[in-house]
Amino acid sequence: MTLKKRSLSGIKPTGTPHLGNYLGMIKPAIKMQETHQTFYFIADYHALTSIREPESLKEHSYDLTATFASLGMDFEEHAFFRQSDIPEVTELTWFLACLTSKGLMERAHAFKDAQSKGQDVNMGLFSYPILMAADILIYDSHVVPVGKDQKQHLEITRDLALRFNHLYGETLVVPEAIIEDQVAVIPGLDGQKMSKSYNNVIPLFAPEKQLRKAIMKIETDSKTVEEVKDPESCNVFQLFQCFADQSAQQDLAEQYRAGGMGYGTAKQICFEAIRDELKDASEHYHQIRGDHAHLEGILEGGKDKARKVARDVVDRVRNKVGL
Ligand code: ADP
Ligand code: TRP
Repeated sequence: MTLKKRSLSGIKPTGTPHLGNYLGMIKPAIKMQETHQTFYFIADYHALTSIREPESLKEHSYDLTATFASLGMDFEEHAFFRQSDIPEVTELTWFLACLTSKGLMERAHAFKDAQSKGQDVNMGLFSYPILMAADILIYDSHVVPVGKDQKQHLEITRDLALRFNHLYGETLVVPEAIIEDQVAVIPGLDGQKMSKSYNNVIPLFAPEKQLRKAIMKIETDSKTVEEVKDPESCNVFQLFQCFADQSAQQDLAEQYRAGGMGYGTAKQICFEAIRDELKDASEHYHQIRGDHAHLEGILEGGKDKARKVARDVVDRVRNKVGL
């Protein structure tokens, strides 16, 4: 039995993973295998709040499984699974929903964003943070590596755990978010947050030519090659920073400040850094992506590990509430 703390995170199968997902969530999550017991899952129940195409849900779930496999997730020691393979999570959602005020959900940003855009809000979206709290609390998770946009969801999760414990006595582990400052929000091609919803993404495992083309499209100001530039406010530099070591970052920053570094050259340097980091993983990804039986095997193994923990926690909760 491991004594390591448990790290848990989830990602929705709503599109092909992009560099924002990689830097904000996937890479730090995989790195944590070295120090934690990790549980990562495909948030397909959450995806159902917006996705209506069964095939795309399946295919994007395979994209994610192959992504984690190719980036070095160790499926023997750690668990990777589908949220929907653990039905206990909906059971815990109910117990938590009964402790959640409607006002708290009305302040949640996923709901507020959808409402402000005049979108139809279904009850799944409205109570999205409760399902997410159940995802986390059901595995006695200690830490949750996520991008900055998930901070509020983690606060809600902590509130619900504390509330349950206050009412029924110590039962649930109160988790902490892990948000890496340097990669808190990765800009997309247009400088806004990189997101599938904004159509500004650089796909994680795009073929080399396509990757280069996407990077060449990153928006910059219109300074000439000779002009002095500010690395801090440049989208290309922001991205480059996430793939380069300290000295390469300093080099490029100095060249920006000295003048004579054009955005075309900076983009080429940025492209090479990204390509080099992702090359092996990308090859591996394309080798296994089509092997559905292999990917299903990974998910099956993860399900067995996760379900055992989930059942224990839900039984503990049932007991405490008097069922
Ligand atoms: P998208 O906005 O493209 O739909 P998701 O909401 O599915 O992405 O995000 C999945 C994970 O990736 C989350 O943990 C989120 O915080 C992280 N993430 C997504 N976009 C970014 C970004 N631009 N910068 C940093 N992290 C991100
Ligand atoms: N809400 C997260 C996102 O949009 C996905 C998610 C669902 C999640 N359940 C989770 C993340 C539990 C961390 C922990 O990206």
